[in-house]
Amino acid sequence: MRPEYKDLVKKAQEAKKRAFAPYSKFHVGAALLTSRGKIYTGCNVEISTYALTICAERTAIFKAISEGDRQFKAIAVISDDPGYTPPCGSCRQVLMDLAGNIDFLMVNGKGHVEILKMRELLPHAFGKKNLERTKKKHR
Ligand code: THU
Repeated sequence: MRPEYKDLVKKAQEAKKRAFAPYSKFHVGAALLTSRGKIYTGCNVEISTYALTICAERTAIFKAISEGDRQFKAIAVISDDPGYTPPCGSCRQVLMDLAGNIDFLMVNGKGHVEILKMRELLPHAFGKKNLERTKKKHR
């Protein structure tokens, strides 16, 4: 694995320690790599009304966008699950919209990494292009 991805996995592991998950007790950490080599971390933050909970992946990417970064290379995600942690449907849409076809690194309990492209995780994604097509039609 590329050295920059090794560091990304380490940062995701560290971020997991900051998870706020008093309801599910499912701790998740994420680390997002920008094209210029900066890393934004994120953890899941749970809310008592459950639905307002935000996943680690979305925390990381919203942090990055709000700090002005728009170009990304990869995101690593880890939980306490001995297996791999795939992103939820909401995170797939958010990552595809804001980061595009980046590498998604899933890390299992043994520290093994499986890398998938976002397009594999969300084939036939809805996106900006769909909205633009209908706008043209109604002009
Ligand atoms: N969760 C994440 O943060 N990322 C994932 O990829 C899967 C699920 C969180 C949301 C919630 O706090 C907990 O894990 C259980 O679903």
